[in-house]
Amino acid sequence: MKKEQVSAGRNAKKAGNVRPETAAFERRLKAHYDEMKWLYYELYSSDEQAFSYFCDMLRRCFDERPDSLRKWDAKREQVPGWYRGNEMLGMQMYPGAFAGTLKGVESHLDYISECGVNYLHLMPLLLSPAGRSDGGYAVADFRKVQPEYGTMEDLAELSGECHSRGISVCLDFVMNHTSEDHEWAKRARAGEKEYQDRYFFYDDWSVPGEFEKTVPQVFPTTAPGNFTWCEEAGKVVMTTFYPYQWDLNYANPTVFNDMTENMLYLCNHGVDIVRLDATPYIWKELGTNCRNLPQVHTLVRLMRMAVEAVCPGTLLLGEIVMEPSKVVPYFGTVEKPECHMLYNVTTMASTWHTVATHDVRLLKHQLGTVFALPKEYTFLNYLRCHDDIGWGLDYDFLEQFGMQQVPHKKFLNDYLTGKLLGSDSRGETYNDDPRLGDARLCGTTASLCGIEAAEYEQNPEKVKVKIRLDRMLHAFLFTQSGLPIIYSGDEIGQLNDYGYHEDPLKWDDSRYIHRGDFDWEAAELRKDRTTRQGELFSGLRMLEALRTLHPVFENAADTWIVETWNDRVLGIGRYYKGEKLIALFNFSEFDETAWINEVEDYTDLITGNPREAKAVGVPAYDFAWLLTKFE
Ligand code: GLC
Repeated sequence: MKKEQVSAGRNAKKAGNVRPETAAFERRLKAHYDEMKWLYYELYSSDEQAFSYFCDMLRRCFDERPDSLRKWDAKREQVPGWYRGNEMLGMQMYPGAFAGTLKGVESHLDYISECGVNYLHLMPLLLSPAGRSDGGYAVADFRKVQPEYGTMEDLAELSGECHSRGISVCLDFVMNHTSEDHEWAKRARAGEKEYQDRYFFYDDWSVPGEFEKTVPQVFPTTAPGNFTWCEEAGKVVMTTFYPYQWDLNYANPTVFNDMTENMLYLCNHGVDIVRLDATPYIWKELGTNCRNLPQVHTLVRLMRMAVEAVCPGTLLLGEIVMEPSKVVPYFGTVEKPECHMLYNVTTMASTWHTVATHDVRLLKHQLGTVFALPKEYTFLNYLRCHDDIGWGLDYDFLEQFGMQQVPHKKFLNDYLTGKLLGSDSRGETYNDDPRLGDARLCGTTASLCGIEAAEYEQNPEKVKVKIRLDRMLHAFLFTQSGLPIIYSGDEIGQLNDYGYHEDPLKWDDSRYIHRGDFDWEAAELRKDRTTRQGELFSGLRMLEALRTLHPVFENAADTWIVETWNDRVLGIGRYYKGEKLIALFNFSEFDETAWINEVEDYTDLITGNPREAKAVGVPAYDFAWLLTKFE
């Protein structure tokens, strides 16, 4: 009998005398064992020793898991779909920008709860060298918090406090690469072969040159190319993102074993949702585009099983910023799931396309695709996040309206940067590649909606309309199935921060325009409804309250597109547990009519008044939520 089978058998036998939690862990491991071994052996040429290390590592991580978190797991296991409810509301924030430190975040948990948030995504907070950090996405130590934010103990304490308030904590796991300051990178630079083997090192530029023929660029302007010369090692190293972010070689099982252990270490410090950063990139092969290769799915499936065995209350959130056909496979199958949640990146980008074109046909098409997916697939929906908006739209669909990729991207960027007549958006472009014409876009929701320009013009009427657009987009966000995430600051309509232009460490990365410090003084105004902050804050709170109150917003609802016979008004239908919702969103700057003809008696959820769902007039940039109940 092979060694690892012996050890699995031994542990199973021991189960009688061990603590019930340990027995439960062994049961979970056993349930996955055959598949795990099969996949691991397939990937790593039946490397018995590495697999046995992997299993022992899982056991070790489980042993180290604090009791409080094991109890948390047990609670979650009772309600496996806990993250799918209509009461879920997320917020994404940089701890530094929000409150300076982790302790600062803890001291503001009342505010976070006041926002109705029960899922908190803390942006990268692990050790990362200043000026070479890519906003924290170049990690020098996966077990150390950036000292200016606090310590690992602070993280565990914050997460404990969050849990006691019913808030789950999400953290990035930057797994594709390490910082060039990571211990492994330092040893690789010093010439240790074992550590060079954890990355992609080449003696000269010939192999890198071959890769460059087929691998696209992530940051064509700010970090062109996929390789960097490492002077100290006298070799070339693969750096898909910035030159200081060295790609890890997951073809080396030690890398996979150690990185999985790092991930579980974070889970053992209270992280409930692991955001798998840049997931599609983690397997490289010459002659391919090094994105979404089949081995990536094997790795993610293995990580899913690892998490299910060690910390079953934990979720994997895949960051797959790719075209739609590449995204959905990361859910895996219903029987062999990979990620619990994925970003709904295409709907997000299609939403901003619709803001710029005032034409809902693409969005209808996109939502139709999403609505056709199994309801077990949970999307994380958002309007803005810390990254740029990339224009990964369905161009095959757009082509029938004469919209070609390159000119259309230019139109979107021109509109959203306010270059076109009639546009009040105030975005900035990001990483333009003049050869491909595929610049992306940055800016806060409020500034992209035109609030910044309207306030600058001191035009109160205009401000009102732009706030309405902002609120309508959030209503659209809350109408979608899945978990809605608010980008910190959006709840008070925070505007662009142009300060980064003067910062020597940030000036060349326009994503910093929407990463400004949270404005606590402005947040004070949230109680005053005559201000932008108050209008938006109370508006969003009301929408969230309605969403939580009505089962029709649950993930399990049936969803469909309602034909409005007006290309400027999007119609969505939802049905669940005797409730039917007709939601209408006017993306045009003019008042419009949704030519619908629904026979039931409806109530307008916003006013609470009865309203017919026939030829519904919707003011410019406004929306309607019409609800009827079947007894
Ligand atoms: C992800 C992050 C992005 C970062 C990149 C490299 O895409 O969202 O901010 O630059 O990974 O780690």
